[in-house]
Amino acid sequence: MRVLGIESSCDETSAAIVDGDGASATLRSLAILSQDVHAIFGGVVPEIASRAHLTAIGPVVSHALREAQLELSDIDAIAVTNAPGLVGALLVGVSYAKGLAATLGVPLVGVHHMEGHLFATSLDDAHAEPPFTALLVSGGHTLLLDAAAWGEYRLLGATRDDAAGEAFDKVAKLLGLPYPGGRHIERLAIEGDPKRHRFSRPMLHGGQRLGDDDFFDVSFSGLKTAVLLAVRAAEAAGTLEAERAHIARGFQDALIDTLAAKTVRAAQAFGRNKIVLGGGVACNRALVAEMQRQLTRARGKTATVFAPSLRLATDNAAMIARAGLFRLERGERATAGLNAFASQPLPGLVTAATNP
Ligand code: KG4
Ligand code: ZN
Repeated sequence: MRVLGIESSCDETSAAIVDGDGASATLRSLAILSQDVHAIFGGVVPEIASRAHLTAIGPVVSHALREAQLELSDIDAIAVTNAPGLVGALLVGVSYAKGLAATLGVPLVGVHHMEGHLFATSLDDAHAEPPFTALLVSGGHTLLLDAAAWGEYRLLGATRDDAAGEAFDKVAKLLGLPYPGGRHIERLAIEGDPKRHRFSRPMLHGGQRLGDDDFFDVSFSGLKTAVLLAVRAAEAAGTLEAERAHIARGFQDALIDTLAAKTVRAAQAFGRNKIVLGGGVACNRALVAEMQRQLTRARGKTATVFAPSLRLATDNAAMIARAGLFRLERGERATAGLNAFASQPLPGLVTAATNP
């Protein structure tokens, strides 16, 4: 089955074509247009995002078809992100996909954006398939999941305040770095001294036990405040320029250490030897390295961390086409009434009745 995926939930307009069946899905093409205009506002402006999607969506779909050397008539089905995200932005993709599916007479399926992130890495490496522990870390979400099978997920933990990417972006702003700030912090942190600012690890201490409500959850607002205080102190001392890299390093180490420890706890609790990462923060090489170090220490040499390639980590339609292929193979179909939602629970969540 050849699936055209469409993604427009935030500030990337993207289209992709995935070919094959669930077991051997291959990526034929991927087009992504990032809306750089938001950088000057220091964050995504929803109205501007919707209008930019409207301008871009036609050419982006054409580009994906051209790259795959296919015609519209070669498409067997369409998958589109319909939640969660900016509603006005989502509606552009959903409306376009509905119109195209009706015109071509092919089935349509709505895809949950975070399930897309869960599937992304499997397009890079077919071994990134369940059972695994998953950490999804993007600008809007931080989710820790156990995936027993595709479509069968248990939500173990989440952030209680800022998402991991949001924390990177806010700290970047405090340090005078451009938006989105994650990759700028990563670059600056390389030059930083890890011992100079040792921020405490949020919601992480040895006394926590499985079953405690803070065992898997994370929180970053306290860490953000600690960074703010360090920035103010350096400003007052006139040393901010010299301290920026050290503060970036201290922040990144604390955040990464917490995420790795909580994810490895989940892998231990469910006896999983695979961790799959997804979302923009999974671009961070220090996060992947620390995750692998902690997982190997806890589970031994056979345990592997799978991280998506850079273009599949951040928002893209390839992951939407891949997750859509899974849903279509299960017989799921959207009606002409498919709508867009700002938030929606991940599909396939099982209840906590069978905790480890
Ligand atoms: O998944 P994504 O592209 O969009 C959302 O669905 O939100 O994630 C974007 C987030 C931003 O907060 C950005 O700062 C962060 O991913 N990010 C990074 C890195 N690259 C992107 N965070 C840390 N290190 C990076 N190298
Ligand atoms: Zn995303």
